[in-house]
Amino acid sequence: VKPESVSLGPLGPAGAPGPEPLCVLGTGDLGRSLGQRLLRAGYRVVYGSRRPGSCGPLPEGAQVMSHAAAAQAARLVFVCIHRENYAFLEALAPELKGKVLVDVSNNLKKNLHPEANAEYLQRLVPGAHVVKAFNTLSAWTLQTGPSDANRQVHLCGDSAEAKDAVADVAAKLGFGAVDRGAVSAARELEDVPLQLFPQWRLPLRLAAGLTAFFFLYLLLRDVVSKYTSEGKDVSFRIMVSLANKVFPIVSLIMLSLCYLPGVMAAFLQLHRGTKYKRFPEWLDRWMLCRKQLGLLALGFASLHVLYTLIIPIRYYVRFRLSAITVSEIRENRTAAFDTTMAWRTDSYYAVGILGFGLYLLLGITSLPSVSNALSWREFSFIQSKLGFLTLLLCTFHTYLYGWDKFLRASSYRWYTPPGYMLCLLPPSAVLALKLLLLLPCVDRSLARIRQGRERARPR
Ligand code: HEM
Repeated sequence: VKPESVSLGPLGPAGAPGPEPLCVLGTGDLGRSLGQRLLRAGYRVVYGSRRPGSCGPLPEGAQVMSHAAAAQAARLVFVCIHRENYAFLEALAPELKGKVLVDVSNNLKKNLHPEANAEYLQRLVPGAHVVKAFNTLSAWTLQTGPSDANRQVHLCGDSAEAKDAVADVAAKLGFGAVDRGAVSAARELEDVPLQLFPQWRLPLRLAAGLTAFFFLYLLLRDVVSKYTSEGKDVSFRIMVSLANKVFPIVSLIMLSLCYLPGVMAAFLQLHRGTKYKRFPEWLDRWMLCRKQLGLLALGFASLHVLYTLIIPIRYYVRFRLSAITVSEIRENRTAAFDTTMAWRTDSYYAVGILGFGLYLLLGITSLPSVSNALSWREFSFIQSKLGFLTLLLCTFHTYLYGWDKFLRASSYRWYTPPGYMLCLLPPSAVLALKLLLLLPCVDRSLARIRQGRERARPR
């Protein structure tokens, strides 16, 4: 049964003048926090309770009544009770007829019930206009007000008028409302608080997999091989040397994986000759987690920088330096200054520093509070153009670090290439593909496709 229009008629007991009364059914944590904010925003709050005489401390200025009396007193009723206790609302159907019922509930698990809480509520009270809202905010956010990261109230419901009424209240509390559609979208909204970093899952797994792989690879290559072939125990290298290889290697691979899906999507559009065909599901999912991939990659690069900073104070490094000096004194020889080495090391440090600076800029601009302050053009300039420049600089840093080592047979211990050579493959491939896309003829075709033009298909 579709309820008819929202009753805007007599507000409060006997239409008393003064601020608009809003009803909160339920006096738990969420009900109390919500009531407190509503009172501060200038509303009159009427609580509906099973035992109005003994329902514990409520915000100052709020009234408490029986469920039926409270429901009758307002046109907007917040249902702040657990779904398991909804059944009694069926008996309140006459008082709730035509009212806006705001369902703020959540579940402890996904798919616990056959239908969403809001749909169940609508079934129990068909004469009311159910709007699902506020469930993605914690009691704490409700009490303290919106913060930069948590400014939005997502809502859904079948009546546009009812949703407007709830959006008005949200606006008075300082939140923006995001309309998520009909009440059938309620399950999606109810699942939001149950998700644990959904967009981080894939990047975190990838980072853990790459870290484990390169750690084992380098452990075998750099530590175990030294022990088996030369009998030397260099296991202390695990703590700093190995970590300072694994972190930048993983960072560079993950940074290139941020830019690979965009390049692949461009080639796919070129191949299809249109932008109006959906990308495959896996490519969509990959593109959606680019921000998280990039932020994790930045975390790994920051670890590399921190590890690099402590190189001069390491016991092993200081010992080696003094041993070299002592042997030079003993043998009465002075090492000649190697200008090429000076150029090479200074260059890779400098390029690394520039790359890291841009990396930081990319990370900062991907934060919502910063990206919201940028226009789309500014955002895409930083994330795309400067992003590729960052990838180029970091890749160049690693090439410069490797220099001519790839020519030396000693670099291929146990016939395996060093880690940095392996990690150069993905960024080099991404940069080469990007270069292809920048060729004027390819760039022109892609621009035409992205402007919405379709390439004529041969018959
Ligand atoms: C290697 C410095 C930023 C990727 C190195 C090494 C140093 C260094 C000293 C040699 C480490 C060793 O001998 O074990 C710096 C400085 C940076 C910086 C000072 C900026 C402040 C970056 C960034 C990336 C990166 C942003 C990109 C992810 C690499 C890679 C290696 C490397 C892949 C080779 C690791 C290996 O030995 O296998 N860097 N770096 N670096 N760096 Fe950086």
